[in-house]
Amino acid sequence: MSISSEPTYATREGLPSDIPEIVRVTNLAYAVEAFCIKGPRTDQGDVADRMPTGTFLVVEDRRNPSRILGLVYLSLSPDRGYLGTLAVDPDLQGSGLSRILVDAVEARCREACVRFLDLTVVNLRKELFPFYRKLGFAPTGVISFPLPSKLILPCHLVQMTKALVPDEAL
Ligand SMILES: CC(C)(COP(=O)(O)OP(=O)(O)OC[C@H]1O[C@@H](n2cnc3c(N)ncnc32)[C@H](O)[C@@H]1OP(=O)(O)O)[C@@H](O)C(=O)NCCC(=O)NCCS
Repeated sequence: MSISSEPTYATREGLPSDIPEIVRVTNLAYAVEAFCIKGPRTDQGDVADRMPTGTFLVVEDRRNPSRILGLVYLSLSPDRGYLGTLAVDPDLQGSGLSRILVDAVEARCREACVRFLDLTVVNLRKELFPFYRKLGFAPTGVISFPLPSKLILPCHLVQMTKALVPDEAL
């Protein structure tokens, strides 16, 4: 019997048929924000609305391709990418899936000749700042929380940005 060393996951673009899984994994992962933000993070209508204006990249389980393990959303505007909804199944967090997803987003941005990649973090999620710093992002500003009616605690968003080109090309 041979033991396969093939990875058990694969990264690909999310399809409309993935919407229920994208919603399931996103809401499971973002349950960590229930202490400060009310209600589920997303629903099927929200994901469907965002598909035409950006790309969901998903990590699927190759043994069960209908099962999504993690996902991220990328939208592009001239010279900037926006990385949103980075979510990994809580059972698989800490195993390197977000690194794979962020690398995939950066590769797409470079293909599109985008120089900057932005994301936002709820300021109360202090544990995310060292995480994103490790991935090369630094804080660049603050933004009001867009849905104040969902807030349980006062908070705002911190924008973090990564330059995707060498300093000489900035
Ligand atoms: C945040 C989240 C996406 C991280 O996903 P993950 O798959 O567990 O992260 P990874 O295992 O890929 O870690 C990526 C790197 O960050 C490092 N890291 C993880 N947590 C860290 C921390 N608190 N401080 C510093 N580095 C950290 C890892 O060691 C790893 O580094 P390496 O690639 O050099 O080994 C995941 O915990 C999640 O889904 N959380 C809930 C949703 C959420 O908060 N999304 C982000 C909202 S802005």
